[in-house]
Amino acid sequence: MPELEDLQHFLITRPHALVARYEFLSFRKAEAGRAWLNGLIDKVGTASSVASSNLDSRWVTVAFTWNGLRTLGVDESSLTNFPEEFQQGMAARATILGTTGANHPDHWVGGLGSPELHAIVILFARDVVERERCRREHEEYLRGLPDVEVLSSLDLEAIAPYGHAHEHFGYRDRLSQPAIEGFGVEPTPGSGPPIKAGEFFLGYPDEEGSCVLPQPEILTRNGSYLAYLMMEEHVGRFRDFLRQNGATREEQELVAAKLMGRWRSGAPLVLAPDKDDPELGGDLQRNNDFNYGEMDPHGYGCPLGAHARRMNPRDTAANMQRRKMIRRGGTYGPALPEDAPEDGIERGIAAFIGCASLVRQFEFAMNVWANDPNFHELGNERDPIFGTQDGSYDMTIPKRPIRRKIKGLPAFTTIRGGAYFFLPGIRALRYLAALGN
Ligand code: HEM
Repeated sequence: MPELEDLQHFLITRPHALVARYEFLSFRKAEAGRAWLNGLIDKVGTASSVASSNLDSRWVTVAFTWNGLRTLGVDESSLTNFPEEFQQGMAARATILGTTGANHPDHWVGGLGSPELHAIVILFARDVVERERCRREHEEYLRGLPDVEVLSSLDLEAIAPYGHAHEHFGYRDRLSQPAIEGFGVEPTPGSGPPIKAGEFFLGYPDEEGSCVLPQPEILTRNGSYLAYLMMEEHVGRFRDFLRQNGATREEQELVAAKLMGRWRSGAPLVLAPDKDDPELGGDLQRNNDFNYGEMDPHGYGCPLGAHARRMNPRDTAANMQRRKMIRRGGTYGPALPEDAPEDGIERGIAAFIGCASLVRQFEFAMNVWANDPNFHELGNERDPIFGTQDGSYDMTIPKRPIRRKIKGLPAFTTIRGGAYFFLPGIRALRYLAALGN
């Protein structure tokens, strides 16, 4: 049985938050970091507390980098038990991740990528009023802890006027997500069997029956890894591209759908290859009920290189149960009104990928699915939505009798920062806060 009182809620429940704030912290002294944590633990949402209350209006999550754990005083022998990629941090993994060129850590903002980054506190709030109240409360709390520095922060807001999650390019989001065995949520039709909890949380059997739990157990049990990515979305450039590649509104919508693998309504191309079907897009009982190998092997509906097909190739890739990722986060920056020219204001997605193995799940997705130009034997392509693009990669849209190849895709997104965090259970937070006593 999952220990719901000990697991942080973040990867398990999705609260009714419309806004968020992330604060990236550095501890100048170990005692200051521990004191900060000690005063905060009772505010952290657990899987059981968040699930049992509809009345909350804010949800708090805390997580640490490897440098943060070290600064808090975790001993060297425990620190070296963490996997190498987590010890190194995301910035050091740029070559493996394919975050080169404009996406390279040298250009990252807000202290992300710096060894001084020790912790993140993630606040989800029901509305802006509540977020601002919490922001002030945390500011006040930090006034008494001068050795805890806020390196940077990011405010996020759901984009109006949609009634459900959308990102800035206009696609409906949060349609496909893994269902975890033992957590009481059935997979939606077509999503495959539920996934073993050990694929996301340390201390539970994974798909191979192993139970990964680096020592000391008190620190790692019920923990997960989070890969954080702040991705700017160049909406003006994206819309220009659609106009250049589609003569009519309908054609432009089709090109947008081909890049994603779903229409902007969420309707999957495999089930709606020729025209949008918004009712299907919003129907969770139907909008994942498809595969690629049998239903669309050549990509005539959904191109092999489309974002959603790359990020979950379903029945066309081996070992899929071991590669699933939990996605969390939201959008930042104001929406660019339809038909408005690019306004130079930064906007994008700031998201977390939750998993039990950064190498097997997140890094594999980045290295192979997003950035290997030869994935699916495509030859010279990368993920059209967030792969590292520099104008030299293409996008093939298979079609009978002749396929269409769009040459030299521009970068629709730029990675502005990223980091690897460990998301501990509640007992582990208490253990960390008490180190040195
Ligand atoms: C700005 C960057 C991104 C945008 C705009 C974006 C947008 C989307 C949208 C609209 C969907 C379809 C809705 C859904 O299936 O829930 C989707 C699916 C998905 N994306 Fe992204 N995404 C971005 C980056 C990423 C990254 C960095 C990852 C992981 C490394 C990722 C992994 C996935 C996965 C696993 C799916 C589900 C595919 C499926 O199960 O069919 N995405 N994305």
